[in-house]
Amino acid sequence: MIKIAPSLLAADFSNLGKQVIEAEQGGADWIHLDVMDGHFVPNITFGPLIVSAVRKCTKLPLDVHLMIEEPEKFLTSFRSVGADIITVHQETCPHLYRTIQTIKENGSKAGVALNPSTPVTMIQEIIDEIDLVLIMTVEPGFGGQHFIKNTLRKIRETREIIDRSRRDILLEVDGGIDQNTARSVIEAGANVLVAGTSIFKVESIKKAITSIRTAQE
Ligand code: DX5
Ligand code: ZN
Repeated sequence: MIKIAPSLLAADFSNLGKQVIEAEQGGADWIHLDVMDGHFVPNITFGPLIVSAVRKCTKLPLDVHLMIEEPEKFLTSFRSVGADIITVHQETCPHLYRTIQTIKENGSKAGVALNPSTPVTMIQEIIDEIDLVLIMTVEPGFGGQHFIKNTLRKIRETREIIDRSRRDILLEVDGGIDQNTARSVIEAGANVLVAGTSIFKVESIKKAITSIRTAQE
């Protein structure tokens, strides 16, 4: 089963509550929230306050993608406002094992994200501890970028690592996902698709979600 996680980065923030409800009614499985600090990535978005506001609008799992340095400082805050899945970047975590343990002890599911240039072997030693791997299919920081085709090979390699682990680990992809790229990432083994622009910057959120979900059929 493929999960679709609309990224609020592309939503209309003057109508955030409405957009979240529309995404839920349109068939979203999760809501993806992109937290950026202006250090790890060259853009700033929002923190726990907005996650808390979104929590009040939906019962869907909140998938919080932390593109921030020293994420361990904020794990408890994001959990306390309702983050169900917390994903940190491998590139920001020198003590990834401890960071993952803290996320899980707090009661969230733990994910690890890899930038396009980070090799998949970086998850090998932590695979038995995590619930999700996020393969970035663009450089993190902005919505609306083009999908990087070379990441398809990484998605396939990640799928092999996950299958070898025999654990129930989700393989999420993020960046440049639309109904065309959805087909190839699903074929490569992804089962959680994040999409911002192709869901929120079109006329019908529901139609967009349906066409991404059915891209492989
Ligand atoms: C990028 C973010 C993505 C972003 C994707 O750093 O992690 O979640 O919203 O946007 P699109 O789908 O427009 O590429
Ligand atoms: Zn994201």
